[in-house]
Amino acid sequence: MLFANPRAVRCAYPQALQQMLNVQGARQSLHWLSQWSGLNHGATPLIDLPGLARDLGLGSIQLKDESQRSPLGSFKALGAPVALVRLILRLHARQSFDPIAVLAGHHAGQLRGTTVICATDGNHGRALAAAARSVGCACVIVLHAKVSVEREQAIAEYGATIVRIAGNYDDSVAEARRLAAARQWHLVSDTSFDGDEQVPCDVMQGYGGIVAEIEAQCVAMPDQACPFTHVFLQGGVGGLAAGIASGFWQVYGEHRPHFIVVEPEQADCLLQSARQGRAASTTGAVDSVMAGLACGDASPLAWRFLEPSVDLFMTVRDDDAVAAMRLLAAGSAQDQPVVSGESGAAGLAGLTALRTMPAQAAACVLNAASRVLLISTEGATAPALYESLVGESADSVLRRQQQWIAAQAR
Ligand SMILES: Cc1ncc(COP(=O)(O)O)c(C=O)c1O
Repeated sequence: MLFANPRAVRCAYPQALQQMLNVQGARQSLHWLSQWSGLNHGATPLIDLPGLARDLGLGSIQLKDESQRSPLGSFKALGAPVALVRLILRLHARQSFDPIAVLAGHHAGQLRGTTVICATDGNHGRALAAAARSVGCACVIVLHAKVSVEREQAIAEYGATIVRIAGNYDDSVAEARRLAAARQWHLVSDTSFDGDEQVPCDVMQGYGGIVAEIEAQCVAMPDQACPFTHVFLQGGVGGLAAGIASGFWQVYGEHRPHFIVVEPEQADCLLQSARQGRAASTTGAVDSVMAGLACGDASPLAWRFLEPSVDLFMTVRDDDAVAAMRLLAAGSAQDQPVVSGESGAAGLAGLTALRTMPAQAAACVLNAASRVLLISTEGATAPALYESLVGESADSVLRRQQQWIAAQAR
């Protein structure tokens, strides 16, 4: 399903939004995290896929590979850790902690009595658990019934206490909120609620580090044009899309790229928000192989950024996402193989689907001159599931990637 957003505008990035999310804050977040042991060193690769671009009749496709962001395997390593640090700085404002020292565990003694909590489909909770262990505070992660044991174990490895509930992602969000209020724990949520926007704003600001990195990785275009005409963004509650879209919008103003948000059919809360003109809930069953995108309620805070900036909302089927995972894993003579997980490959699934719809593609000016950016937001964050869906292990795909890169260097 597709929905062209009638409220998308092309103008300078509004001041009111800039006060909440801005490139300066994104750079600062990235700087703090750059010394954290939980992140891999340096920028994640921006991979050119000329074979895929040719096959899809596009000018170019670049893929930002967030599987290489950290051992946690997803872009979420940029969000929760920064939000946790900013929360600690606020809680201990009088002590003027150094953020880098906080992440290095230098204040663990003072933070031992602090407990943080969140709900998760997997990646956000894993990132919070890893950051909590680094800073030295306790962590509770609420998981809903559909989160796999594989994902649970990956979180528990970081010492977090797991709370399992019946129900879906949105029920786990409600339970995390309830527990936080009842026990006076600190909620580090990636979605917003009435009167609780600072933490989710900090999470989204962390994601903006991806734009700051891309800016440094791209060759400058004539007339300060954006290196990309189209950016495909996976949508869960909307935080990733808001963090990325806001960054490009601030830098390129009315010349910003087209933003296209891709969600699972069963969890289309952002598309429904666009239809209704307010942050809304999905009409689907909130049950998708794209676990990170299986969210029933849009984040009202993220929606403030998405409503005026996203040109097109679309949904994809689980099969489309799996086909996109396989396409990226296969690679070709021109394109290196890439490990992209279920939610990570959804952007490519959307792009591929849009290329089969000439009228809709033309309406958003997607054509042979387009320069497309995809963000593969995760690698094999559930390795056994990845192998069963792709028919090859992530390690094997990575080995082929290394061989491809070595062959190019010869
Ligand atoms: C791999 C992956 N991609 C994309 C998203 C979507 O992010 P958001 O919920 O901020 O829209 C998530 C969310 O968990 C995710 O795990």
